Amino acid sequence: MSLAILPGSFDPFTLGHLDIARRAAKVFDEVIIAVAVNPAKKYRFMPEARRDLIAQAVAELPTVRVEVASGLLVDFAQEQGATAIVKGLRGGSDFDAESPMALMNRHMTGIETMFIVGDQALAHISSSLVKDIASYGRDISDLVPAAVAAAMQAGPTS
Ligand code: PNS
Repeated sequence: MSLAILPGSFDPFTLGHLDIARRAAKVFDEVIIAVAVNPAKKYRFMPEARRDLIAQAVAELPTVRVEVASGLLVDFAQEQGATAIVKGLRGGSDFDAESPMALMNRHMTGIETMFIVGDQALAHISSSLVKDIASYGRDISDLVPAAVAAAMQAGPTS
């Protein structure tokens, strides 16, 4: 059985992330979306809120589950018996950012990172841009899953 870990901050989970989760679910028997916790980072949503919003967004995908993963990603991946870490790429700058992490994760444990190229029509979507335009009151319902859009509109912290 193959198991992929799809990690990220997902603050918030976007349609771009959903696209990668769907593609990963076609390749691997099981996918765990790992919601990262970095105490040094200020997030819009608490880890459990991010987990619950993602779970609603991926309810259509029976082989995908969502977990909060604190600590080193490779430790979580090993605990879960993962086949690989999966990351989505929107373009070359994503690869430049991801490549050192992939090499470091492999250096530490031997685990491979597999990259999936996302839908080009979603390549402009990032969590930070979604938060930025939402803060000006713009509609984000065509950028994020419905549950996320509702939570973003509900208030500053959830
Ligand atoms: O969505 P992001 O913020 O680009 O995701 C980055 C993330 C969470 C995947 C990365 O920071 C990570 O793996 N964090 C967990 C801690 C860790 O393993 N750090 C060493 C990376 S080589």
